[in-house]
Amino acid sequence: MTTLAFDVYGTLIDTAGVISALRTKIGAQAGAASDLWRSKQLEYSFRRGLMQNYSDFAVCTRQALEYVCNSMNLPLSHDEREELLASYRGLPAFADVTSGLEACRASGMKLYALSNGRPDDVHGLLEQAGIRDFFEDVVSTGEISSFKPNPGVYAHFLRRADCAGSEAWLISGNPFDVIGAISAGMRSAWVQRNPASIFDPWEIEPTLTVTSLLQLSTAVQNRENCSA
Ligand code: 2OP
Repeated sequence: MTTLAFDVYGTLIDTAGVISALRTKIGAQAGAASDLWRSKQLEYSFRRGLMQNYSDFAVCTRQALEYVCNSMNLPLSHDEREELLASYRGLPAFADVTSGLEACRASGMKLYALSNGRPDDVHGLLEQAGIRDFFEDVVSTGEISSFKPNPGVYAHFLRRADCAGSEAWLISGNPFDVIGAISAGMRSAWVQRNPASIFDPWEIEPTLTVTSLLQLSTAVQNRENCSA
């Protein structure tokens, strides 16, 4: 049976959803602050993974926000930072997610969430978006005290889902995650919602690319039929 592991932040859940909360506090700098916050959050997770100095993803998110405030000279009070962190726990799902997941389930695939996020944060986001029940389970990289793209994370997922790399796909909007999963023996679909986003020019290409989760179920099935 085909198993799909969905990345959460940036694939199911829109991290740019913090922009409206940021805009009420810092106006026109909101978009730049959101981009820097996300890229520092990921950088901190990569560095903690390499250093084997694990603290959970919520710590990466909090410390990245502190970095943004310092680097952009944002005069945000303690309470305002806490409000922004709370809004990160209330981020919205992308508009194509519910229908895309429905189609995957209807075609008989097994769905999991696979995230750097803390299990309580991920469960909260999926429940709030009304999509928790599509998933067999939520697998957090924290279960092995590491982050994507450590190959151990994808191997841990395959053990948790009890499937082989050849029958499992990682679905992600994050190119580093797609490359990490393929390098660890899975197949992977890149969700390129924004036509301007660029895939890292490495020697590894996505197994397939979709521009919306609405295309995913058919694209995966076509690909599986080709390789059968
Ligand atoms: C996630 O693991 C990479 O942030 C992304 O949900």
